[in-house]
Amino acid sequence: MIINNETIIKDSDPIIRKRSSDVALPLSEEDRKLLLDMHKYVYDSTIEEIAEKENLRPAVGISAIQLGVPKKMTAIILKDSEGNVETEYALVNPKIISSSVEQAYLKNGEGCLSVEDEHEGYIYRSARCKVKGYDLISDKDVLIKAEGYLAIVLQHELDHFKGVLFYDHINKKDPFYEDPDAVCIE
Ligand code: CO
Repeated sequence: MIINNETIIKDSDPIIRKRSSDVALPLSEEDRKLLLDMHKYVYDSTIEEIAEKENLRPAVGISAIQLGVPKKMTAIILKDSEGNVETEYALVNPKIISSSVEQAYLKNGEGCLSVEDEHEGYIYRSARCKVKGYDLISDKDVLIKAEGYLAIVLQHELDHFKGVLFYDHINKKDPFYEDPDAVCIE
């Protein structure tokens, strides 16, 4: 599948609100191909020359519903400032098995490939979470113990499986409400 800013489903399309279903394992050839294409998108999206040429918006994650496929699959890549991959997953049926009571939020708010309008405000999520699932990159069942930015990204992506978008979490009356007990991630 060609994945670029044209083919990614936006929030104006009701499909983005659809719930995703579990995926059969071992992966079908079609599911495997889609997940690898998603992973490639995220990887390439932060390489300026490729992103510009292929119309990719920079991202750290993408979920299958954003391509109109309601299946629980997501690709996540975090790179360091030099562009080296620090963390990468191509997850199938990931599930949060526990999450901290302590909350965290990104100082600069969140963004999403399916959201083009500006939605300012803090999004409070669990500061830590444990996620279980199958990872195509390592070809293993994984237990991810996430904190900080990765924990936020995982919760953002897994929200897509429920049709939830980041701005649904913004406090409408007080978008920049600061919870003194929450961790602020710069
Ligand atoms: Co998103």
